[in-house]
Amino acid sequence: MKEEQIIQLARSLFYEKILVKLDDEFVGALAAIPKNTDSHDLNYGEIFLRDNIPVMIYLLLEGEFKIVKKFLNTCLDLQSDNFQTQGIFPTSFAEIKSRLVADYGQRAIGRVYSVDATLWWVIMAYIYVNRSGDYTWATSPKVQKAIQQVLNLILHPSFRDAPTLFVPDGAFMIDRPLDVWGNPLEIQSLLYGTLLSAVGLIQIDLATKTLGENEPPPDAFTERQIYQAQYAIAWIFKLRRYLLKQYWVNSQIIQTLRRRPTEQYGEGIVNEYNIQSETIPHWLQDWLGEKGGYLIGNIRTGRPDFRFFTLGNCLGAIFDVISPAQQQSLFSLMAQNRAELFAQMPIRICHPPLDDGDWRKKTGYDRKNLPWCYHNAGHWPCLLWFFTVASIRHRYLYHQSPADAATINVLLNDSYETLLKRLPKQNWAEYFDGPNGVWVGQQARLDQTWTIVGFLLVHHFLKVNPEDTNIMNLPTLKSLANNKFAKNYKNNYQKI
Ligand code: GLC
Repeated sequence: MKEEQIIQLARSLFYEKILVKLDDEFVGALAAIPKNTDSHDLNYGEIFLRDNIPVMIYLLLEGEFKIVKKFLNTCLDLQSDNFQTQGIFPTSFAEIKSRLVADYGQRAIGRVYSVDATLWWVIMAYIYVNRSGDYTWATSPKVQKAIQQVLNLILHPSFRDAPTLFVPDGAFMIDRPLDVWGNPLEIQSLLYGTLLSAVGLIQIDLATKTLGENEPPPDAFTERQIYQAQYAIAWIFKLRRYLLKQYWVNSQIIQTLRRRPTEQYGEGIVNEYNIQSETIPHWLQDWLGEKGGYLIGNIRTGRPDFRFFTLGNCLGAIFDVISPAQQQSLFSLMAQNRAELFAQMPIRICHPPLDDGDWRKKTGYDRKNLPWCYHNAGHWPCLLWFFTVASIRHRYLYHQSPADAATINVLLNDSYETLLKRLPKQNWAEYFDGPNGVWVGQQARLDQTWTIVGFLLVHHFLKVNPEDTNIMNLPTLKSLANNKFAKNYKNNYQKI
């Protein structure tokens, strides 16, 4: 098949087989195109929030604002109102016997719940408003209330001081045990994006209200909006400082970490989490090389996780958690480790895999997450569009040397060619196994939605309109902090 035919095929699968309707209107996409058999398909016939992020981004690029709004509103109707889970969004939902049924984790295998779904909803809401200009929706009480409820979940007292979100194993795209409990990077990058988006949306609403300088807010709801926005801005600053200090590593930093004292007590010490140098793995030497840097997978007392997680790192770049120079180090690291990460199917979800012993102990013999399989270092084509956005966006916004730009360009084009060559032949599989990603995942679904849409997005950003990568731009921290409401209420509310 020629390139043009493959794109047409992917588009027709998308528009004819993947999108589904609710009340006669398109609402979102199933996780995978249903098989034509009666076999039990678990929950792949449901509309997953996270799987619908690339779908909604693609629809926005196509100008299909109505579908995106319907999706966001449907999720909003499903935001939990139960006392214990108030404010959370479901992992997935489906229409079953004319009723909308949502899974907040109470139906999932292993009863995992998806923290990322809630975080993504806020980010998606901001991106929708920014792209469509639908400020009426942004300022509607139901949207502002939803944001307030999400912020209630994040900005509340707890038993810890760190600005990260503490979650159980498998609370995000990696939704099975993989020793990713604690403060996994993907959740922290999303948290950063969520707080930026939430404050951005609140400030849009505040701009429609008549608020005099140094005058008290007109009502309790507005007072809470101002309070949360201020608190969130301070939180974002703190979170960024924390992530750069605790998660960012390069060769220089690793050498400093290895020589730190342990068993320190009190404030102002260097090894806050009492990390022993034996936990720092030797494979980092080659992996980092001279120029490479990345955000590590997790920080926990005594047990940092040095695995490289692709999505959390790409989001860290896209949302500008890491500085432009650090973004360049990340891209250099990824290019330098091309044989591991991109291999025969871009991109590996994390590296390296938990080996046999750890797999047994830490995943509880999880059959899907065997070493080199599925989440445990399998290859997921749906991740390539995130890297594409991160690197092309960087090229537009920040200075990049021609040599660095050329290296990334080759990597992107080769990766796109790989998808073109392999995905239609291998039925748009969900993921690929083995150290180089040649084998279709042992338990991979075929005709997986985010594989198909991820491919369309890579094609769009690479071949149709690279400037559209700005669709993922969130408000900058600086613009939020300099907003007149943030300034007017600075002294009253900034309490962190
Ligand atoms: C798998 C993935 C999860 C995805 C779901 C539906 O469970 O791990 O991230 O949302 O499939 O595609």
